[in-house]
Parts: sequence; C-alpha cells; structure tokens
Amino acid sequence: MENLSEKTTAILDEIRGHAGENYIPIIREKTLQSLTQACKNASNILEIGTATGYSASCMLLSCDAFVTTIEKDPVRATQAAQNFNKLNLSHRVRLITGDAAQELKALTVQGERFDFIFLDGPKGQYEHYYDDLKTLLRRGGILFADNVFLHGMVKSDGTIPHKHRSMVVNLRKFLKRLQSDSDFQTQIFDIEDGFTISKKLK
Ligand SMILES: C[S@@+](CC[C@H](N)C(=O)[O-])C[C@H]1O[C@@H](n2cnc3c(N)ncnc32)[C@H](O)[C@@H]1O
Repeated sequence: MENLSEKTTAILDEIRGHAGENYIPIIREKTLQSLTQACKNASNILEIGTATGYSASCMLLSCDAFVTTIEKDPVRATQAAQNFNKLNLSHRVRLITGDAAQELKALTVQGERFDFIFLDGPKGQYEHYYDDLKTLLRRGGILFADNVFLHGMVKSDGTIPHKHRSMVVNLRKFLKRLQSDSDFQTQIFDIEDGFTISKKLK
C-alpha cells in the first residue's frame, strides 16, 4: 500500500492492534503484501471472512475495486462496518453478515461475478466452497486462499491432533483439487501460514 496518509495508517494500526489484543486472527504482513499486489487490477472483489475489516480495507486502499465481504459473527461485522466508516470506505463495500456457505450460493444464484476472490473464512470449509467460488470467479480472475498449510499441519506426515483433523483433511482435498484442476493455474506459496494464488484460465 502506497502513499497512505498518517491518519489512515494510524487507523489501520489500531485495527491490527485491536485484533491482536482480542485474539481475532487477521492476515499476516508478508501475505498482506502479496494480497495487495495480486488485487491491484481488480474491480470487483469478493472476500470470505471479514473479521473486523482489516484485509478488506487494505485491498480497498490498494486499488479502485468494490468489495463484497462476508462475515458470520455479527459483533465482528459491526466492528468492520465502523472501521470502513472511519476509513471513508463504506461506499465501496457491501458487508454481508451471514454464513458463507449460504451467502455464496445466494450470490451464485443471483448471477454475481467477481474478478478477484480472497478466501479467508473457516479453513475446513474451503473444499465445500470450491464449486461456488469457481462459478463466481470470472475467466481470467484470481482466487487467493490464505492459511492453506494451517500451522504446518497440512504438510506434516505426523499425527494430527484430533480437533484439527477434519480441517486438515479438507484443506488437503482443497489443495489437491485446485492443483489438479486444469481450469486453474495455481501457485502455492510457502510463506507464513501458506497461501495459494490461482488464475482461472477458462
Ligand atoms: C481469519 S479471519 C478473517 C480475517 C480477515 N480476512 C483479515 O485478514 O482481516 C476468519 C473470519 O471468518 C469468519 N467466519 C468463520 N466461519 C464463517 C462462516 N461460516 N461464514 C462466514 N464467516 C465465517 C470468522 O468469524 C472470522 O472473523
């Protein structure tokens, strides 16, 4: 993100600080740099997992796009709306409070299409969202998925703690499907918690 005013930088720092203090997981620094680079030419972005609006705000401040973002937790969604307001970004955001599985289906049925999707919602659900995300993404569009290694567990040969097992199994399925799908050209980045950038070819 370039040329941000002191005020904007201070508000972003405050959102990041609040997330840290309240155990709200938000995007890591290097992943954010890649995200804001990858979305530079986007005009219509979909985000799954708003939290308090940090990553959506950073994307909005990096390009001229409009962002639709989905968050299940109403308290976080309210905080996100306040943060978009503080940053004067509300007119470029549609914030949907709801469960991503249902909201993605609704967007699909409504015929909505996006040229960039940032997938950062519940990790065990990425695989279940796959078909809808593929439909919602325009040809030539980019799917950016964060936390695909889940603290190294997705790559590990060792025993996965029971509470994480289904999430890890689903993330492995998601990665396998993405890599073997000839409609996508996918790169996997072993940076921070792991992320993928996939271009939809057809
Ligand atoms: C990793 S956080 C998002 C962080 C945010 N993208 C950022 O970097 O600033 C994931 C968010 O997804 C939300 N979430 C979890 N399950 C969801 C669901 N089924 N539908 C929509 N959002 C969900 C959580 O409440 C959480 O706020």
